[in-house]
Amino acid sequence: MPLPSLLAAGLLLFLATPAPSSHAAGVDEGGDNVSTGMPRFREAPQFYNSPSCPPPLPAGPGAACSPSALVHVAMTLDVAYLRGSVAAVLSVLQHTACPQSIFFDFVAASAAGRLNATVAGAFPSLAFQIHSFSGEELRVAGLISTSIRAALDRPLNYARSYLPRLLPECVRRVVYLDSDLVLVDDVASLASTPIPDGVVLAAPEYCNANFTSYFTPTFWANPALSVAFEGQRACYFNTGVMVMDLGRWRDGGYTERIEEWMELQKRMRIYELGSLPPFLLVFAGRIAAVEHRWNQHGLGGDNYRGLCRDLHPGPVSLLHWSGKGKPWARLDAGRPCPLDALWAPYDLLLRNTIAIDES
Ligand SMILES: *[C@@H]1O[C@H](CO)[C@@H](O)[C@H](O)[C@H]1NC(C)=O
Ligand SMILES: *[C@@H]1O[C@H](CO)[C@@H](O)[C@H](O)[C@H]1NC(C)=O
Ligand SMILES: *[C@@H]1O[C@H](CO)[C@@H](O)[C@H](O)[C@H]1NC(C)=O
Repeated sequence: MPLPSLLAAGLLLFLATPAPSSHAAGVDEGGDNVSTGMPRFREAPQFYNSPSCPPPLPAGPGAACSPSALVHVAMTLDVAYLRGSVAAVLSVLQHTACPQSIFFDFVAASAAGRLNATVAGAFPSLAFQIHSFSGEELRVAGLISTSIRAALDRPLNYARSYLPRLLPECVRRVVYLDSDLVLVDDVASLASTPIPDGVVLAAPEYCNANFTSYFTPTFWANPALSVAFEGQRACYFNTGVMVMDLGRWRDGGYTERIEEWMELQKRMRIYELGSLPPFLLVFAGRIAAVEHRWNQHGLGGDNYRGLCRDLHPGPVSLLHWSGKGKPWARLDAGRPCPLDALWAPYDLLLRNTIAIDES
């Protein structure tokens, strides 16, 4: 290579590499902690209970069975969606009257120790426990058949069906939340959704959605299968926001029933999309309704073309970026959808020090 080209190449390399001295020690280009490989988060403000609340729960896992735990919130934790989970936790704390009485039950398949330290760093007084999914993960991976979106095939995406096993017996009711949402209302009112006798879960139902299309013609053509919905007014519901009665779930063996449908799906294709259809097969037509304001869904946009979506008419208690696009990715890429601005205030991510110096 002639000398001028070598110099030019060296100059390009120099320009493309930010000077190491402008970084804090132990932080990589993307702002991650190099020793843990985890994103770094700002510490959230401390939120305090209103006078009418029970006494605050102690930080850490000790208070799981405390009668002062007003609400149990369950979420999954992994490195890929951690930024979303942290934003969701912040939104729960910020909009509830009794933030010190909420217990968080996280489920992680790996890196539990590092996730534990990261969550405790962002929320130093949070009452939470990380439950390990590693015991179930391999078996679940073996039950999953491939869907159209790879993200839906992660075993951890199925963790919600295992909450009754993973959480301690003392937990009778839990609010399950996806990691791509924020609440703008008190989670305690969602948690107190009435669930009538004999009903196991509550979720927002969508009876205008075409229920038929979630299952294959093979399924509908086989009366031994489609009998699952006979005599039910089965409607689509989204499993990203659910209130679950864990006691009734355990008594009814619903985890095993979901697994049976997944086993069948491996042998004959009865549905298309991820973890939702087995839930529909077991519960559709048998759930308690949650008001639609608790799941303003679809803000992730269109699965194929990534178009932006608007809010559905009516009040808003929870914004859900279900669909392919995630607000953090679109904000980072400089191509946000208009409603992504509503997620941004809950983002606790610390970027690398160059970005911090400039702000
Ligand atoms: C990286 O994580 C370790 C372990 O949690 C912590 O001790 C250290 O302070 C972190 N470094 C930075 C730069 O955040
Ligand atoms: C998380 O850390 C706490 C102490 O801060 C500890 O009691 C708990 O066992 C840890 N959990 C995991 C999954 O590492
Ligand atoms: C619902 O979906 C099925 C299968 O995808 C289709 O055959 C049917 O025409 C649809 N019904 C309506 C009302 O759109």
